[in-house]
Amino acid sequence: MKNTKEPGNGKETNMTNIVAPAKDASGDLRALFIESLKDIYWAENALTKALPKMAANATSPLLASAITEHIEVTKIQVVRLKAIFELLGEKAEGKKCEAMDGLIKEGDSILEETVPGPVRDAGIIAASQKIEHYEIATYGTLCSFAKALGENDAVQLLTQTLAEEKESDMILSDAACSAINLMAAENTKKGALKK
Ligand SMILES: [Fe+2]
Repeated sequence: MKNTKEPGNGKETNMTNIVAPAKDASGDLRALFIESLKDIYWAENALTKALPKMAANATSPLLASAITEHIEVTKIQVVRLKAIFELLGEKAEGKKCEAMDGLIKEGDSILEETVPGPVRDAGIIAASQKIEHYEIATYGTLCSFAKALGENDAVQLLTQTLAEEKESDMILSDAACSAINLMAAENTKKGALKK
């Protein structure tokens, strides 16, 4: 094991933590942009399959319709990503996004661990907002990459999707307030019955 001292702070750095690049790794921003597009393309396609289950398990009609509406928006986002691949002269293909796969599995486990009602709804909202936040971070980064690369048409398309993800997050925040209010009302009712 080889240790060195970082300049200035005297702390030791373990050189075994430095990851060597894979043989085919590219230092090219365009390559990183395309890889990131493949990742979100896989994620959006996975969401078109996962979201109907979330909507079907929501008790609140407001939440169910918010998710159902987002399924349609997600399908449009897939089409938009295909258009971006075409603009770049690249084949539209997905690469498994481990982060989104994990977030979808977390949503599934919430459904397994809860019964229908406001608590399950709160869990669905929490899982959906984690998904939205991941997408907001991803599309924000993709917009920056596209700007840096001078891909202005791609910037426009990515900006539209980013705005949709932010709007969806706000709708989910409103649904969270309704679900929490419903839970508070139910708890108040239970409390009143005990007296
Ligand atoms: Fe999306």
